[in-house]
Amino acid sequence: MGQNKKIIVMASGTGSILKALIAAELPIVAVVTDRKCPAEDIARDGNIKCIRVTRDSFGETFDRKSYTDKLLTAILEINPDLIAMAGFGTVLSEDLEKRFPNRVLNTHPSLLPLFKGWHAVRDALAADVKVTGCTIHIATAELDAGPILYQQEVPIMPGDSEESLHKRIKEVEKIIYPKVIRQFLDSDCNLQPMNIELH
Ligand code: GRF
Repeated sequence: MGQNKKIIVMASGTGSILKALIAAELPIVAVVTDRKCPAEDIARDGNIKCIRVTRDSFGETFDRKSYTDKLLTAILEINPDLIAMAGFGTVLSEDLEKRFPNRVLNTHPSLLPLFKGWHAVRDALAADVKVTGCTIHIATAELDAGPILYQQEVPIMPGDSEESLHKRIKEVEKIIYPKVIRQFLDSDCNLQPMNIELH
C-alpha cells in the first residue's frame, strides 16, 4: 500500500471495528467522532489524532447540511485518500460524497439491500431469516444504498439474541473490513469485485 496514503475513520460507538482497523496497521491518520464515545479512547490508545465534531441536535432541528459542512472543514484539513465509517451515527449530506466520490466506505451489519438502517440485526431476527451477514459498500447520501464492494454471510443460530448475533457479525467485519479497505486503496479506489481470504 502506498506509504503516503491517508485514511480517516469516522465512529460514534464502542469502536471495536476501529480497533481492528488500527490492529491491521492501516494508515489511519485521524479518527473523527460526532459525540463523546468509547471509540475516542480507542483512537487515543492507538496514538491516533481524534477530532470530535459535536452533533448537538438529534431531533427535527438537526441541520444536516451545516453539520456536514463543519465536518468537511475538519476532514479537508487532513485531505485523506479514503474515509472509512465504522459505526458512525450521523447520516451526512451529499456534500461529503461530492467532495470524496467513491472514497467513503461503510460497513453495515446485514446483507444489503436487506435490512437497511440502524436496527439491521434486530430486523433480521424479527424477519426470521436463517442467514444474515455484513456488507462493505460505498457510502452515499442515500442510507445504506451505495455500490457494494463485498458481502459475507453469517448464519443465525437458534436462540440468537440481537447482542449475540451482532457480536458474531462484528467478528466477521473485523476480518473483512481491513482487507477490503487495503485492496480498495491499493486499486486506487476501483469499484472492482474483490477476492477476500477470510483467514
Ligand atoms: C458495526 O456492526 C457496523 O456494521 C455498524 O456499526 C457497528 C460498529 O460497531 N455500522 P463498533 O462501535 O465498532 O463496535
